[in-house]
Amino acid sequence: MSIPKTQYFEAQPAVASRPRTVRLRIGEMDLTLQTDRGVFGSKGVDLGTRVLLREAPPPPQEGDVLDLGCGYGPIAIVLAKLAPGARLWAVDVNERALELSRANAETAGASNVTVGTPDKVPDEIRFEAIYSNPPVRVGKAPLHSLLLEWLPRLKPAGAAYLVVQRNLGSDSLARWLAEEGFAVSRLKSKKGYRVLEVKAGS
Ligand SMILES: C[S@@+](CC[C@H](N)C(=O)[O-])C[C@H]1O[C@@H](n2cnc3c(N)ncnc32)[C@H](O)[C@@H]1O
Repeated sequence: MSIPKTQYFEAQPAVASRPRTVRLRIGEMDLTLQTDRGVFGSKGVDLGTRVLLREAPPPPQEGDVLDLGCGYGPIAIVLAKLAPGARLWAVDVNERALELSRANAETAGASNVTVGTPDKVPDEIRFEAIYSNPPVRVGKAPLHSLLLEWLPRLKPAGAAYLVVQRNLGSDSLARWLAEEGFAVSRLKSKKGYRVLEVKAGS
């Protein structure tokens, strides 16, 4: 019997839906999030995501903030609750993930989250900050072009916070970003993950 293969970054996951809920506790926040098969972290909020939410600096209190590759929305929703005056853009290519993000933002009362495919973000928007558990598994070249598409949309004083597993190439990603002219620092190293801070180079 062949087992259907699916990847969390497909637009339409091939696997049948099997909804479930997962819990995310961050500081005072205690969220119940809907998830499903065919989306990243469907069995529980990813450890890297939790490291990012605990270790990255708090979001700016106003302006536009991007969650690049939002999945079912844990990053965007926590940031939106921490910064009710900011506008969170939660983008993904996986339609099932986007529907879950919308539902989760509504349940959490995070009305400052706009969920959609990447093309739904108006071209003129520049971000105060970007937070991402990026889709490393898409492969190096697609990941690099994704980052080169979004990082230049930071405001001059803005910063991106990326969480990447050490075993999945966080250090080579940091080196590549530096070669591309970004100012990169390793903000935290925890539980096998690095949180990278990426700013425009001088
Ligand atoms: C590692 S997962 C993180 C998901 C979620 N932020 C979390 O922390 O659970 C990366 C996400 O990036 C999405 N993705 C893949 N390619 C993308 C692209 N070109 N643009 C935006 N998102 C993409 C995937 O579908 C996936 O949901």
